[in-house]
Amino acid sequence: MATILAIETSCDETAVAIVNNREILSSVVSSQIATHQPYGGVVPEVASRKHLETLNPAIAQALTEAHLTWSEVDGIAATCAPGLVGALLVGLTAAKTLAILQQKPFLGVHHLEGHIYASYLSEPNLEPPFICLLVSGGHTSLIYVKDCGHYEILGQTRDDAAGEAFDKVARLMNLGYPGGPIIDKLAQQGNPKAFVLPEGQVSLPEGGFHRYDSSFSGLKTAVLRLTQKLQQEAPELPVHDLAASFQETVAKALTKRAIACALDYGLDTIAVGGGVAANSGLRQHLQAAGAKHNLRVLFPPLKFCTDNAAMIACAAADHFNHGHTSPLTLGAQSRMPISDVMQLYL
Ligand code: KG4
Ligand code: ZN
Repeated sequence: MATILAIETSCDETAVAIVNNREILSSVVSSQIATHQPYGGVVPEVASRKHLETLNPAIAQALTEAHLTWSEVDGIAATCAPGLVGALLVGLTAAKTLAILQQKPFLGVHHLEGHIYASYLSEPNLEPPFICLLVSGGHTSLIYVKDCGHYEILGQTRDDAAGEAFDKVARLMNLGYPGGPIIDKLAQQGNPKAFVLPEGQVSLPEGGFHRYDSSFSGLKTAVLRLTQKLQQEAPELPVHDLAASFQETVAKALTKRAIACALDYGLDTIAVGGGVAANSGLRQHLQAAGAKHNLRVLFPPLKFCTDNAAMIACAAADHFNHGHTSPLTLGAQSRMPISDVMQLYL
């Protein structure tokens, strides 16, 4: 049983958590959304500075809430890739410094592996193999989860991530940031069949379409053209119908690909992670399709879907239990495929 303190600073949340294997002892998340809102997106330099201000109090709070002292912590972890390098470096440097001072093992964690482990927090009995549909502001991936540290990327987006598409479409409709929750709310009162939008398929050189890869930039352009056309016809945009039609198109595209992966690979469970897992349209479509095909579909509670350090600590605890630790020379990387996770460990 490993007790791990982990730090997550890969984007715009400063988070610190302590877990004992799959049990959360404390989880502190300080969001920077309000800071970045005036800019309509995350400003990397501002994010790094904000992490620096917030991190030390968050570490102290995590220890206090878990009622632990350093002597009871087995290892110290931090997200090291992928993400904003300046932001990652704040958490990574803090974790390595603490590991030296407290003479504890250090573990670097791949952010996407953390998102996979979010499912273990809400379903402690879950065991691989399963499919993970990871849909966030930066990623849209279908991952074959084989074992701790062993992943195969089956599908990904060829352009915009699903969350990015929500944010961009919200921006072009002047709805605000972040766009996902705003579009989701408007969509509840709209007609998803009001407008027919292109799903965005990825062509194969030999003909036909890729079964697992997705593409959302064409859909975004289609919404842009449609809004321009509608604006010429009437001063007020039918935002509810537009939001519902866009959301339905994304939800159906993701559902189709996730179900295809599970069926093709003979896996009976799909675990969803990332901020877009909060989307009501995706939840409805994927749950219904899963039930039809006798597949178990797991949507963790939202607090585990969006960025947090409990999922990072949970991944680190499993690696620790497998005897994995990272060298103190480990650096931050803006990009790194999840299939390379084992390169982080000795
Ligand atoms: O996982 P996350 O918190 O951060 C990373 O990108 O790692 O995901 C944030 C993304 C944003 O693009 C946001 O618009 C989207 O998740 N999102 C949603 C919803 N809630 C958040 N997208 C669709 N529907 C939602 N309800
Ligand atoms: Zn994330």
